[in-house]
Amino acid sequence: MKLSESIRKALIQQINVEFHSAWLYRSMSQDMKHRNLPGYAKWLDKQYEEERQHGFKIINYIEDRDGVVDFLPIGGIDKHYDDPLEVARESLAHEEWVSGLIRDLFQQARKEGDIETELFLRWFIDEQVEEEVNGRENVAAFEKARDCPGLLYMYDKKLGER
Ligand SMILES: [Fe+2]
Ligand SMILES: [Fe+2]
Repeated sequence: MKLSESIRKALIQQINVEFHSAWLYRSMSQDMKHRNLPGYAKWLDKQYEEERQHGFKIINYIEDRDGVVDFLPIGGIDKHYDDPLEVARESLAHEEWVSGLIRDLFQQARKEGDIETELFLRWFIDEQVEEEVNGRENVAAFEKARDCPGLLYMYDKKLGER
């Protein structure tokens, strides 16, 4: 079954969200580098790579379904952060927003009876659960480390081992 136009369009929107997420994490990584947190910067760089892979996963899926991908402009990032706790909180909020988008996509596929897309999205649903777990862990850790440079140093080191 060929992809419906509405599912194709919705998947292309999600490709852009994934690449926008990649830019967001890459930009946050730069800010944390400047704050002398190389571990968190490295962790965010890995996140950047993962988000790009998510984007490519959807591109490949559309092509596998004999669909055509439109390569649209990716939303840029011009916001900068000083505080790792702020980065962690914004990352978590961002992932929660993405989880909602994936759920909406899933519901749309279900409504249209597009079983292949439903099954394809399963991986993304699991991934979002994981992303939110990581996000909550980082928020909790940076909250604890807020007024404690020793803890901040240790947690940064731990993140660098990812
Ligand atoms: Fe993603
Ligand atoms: Fe993500």
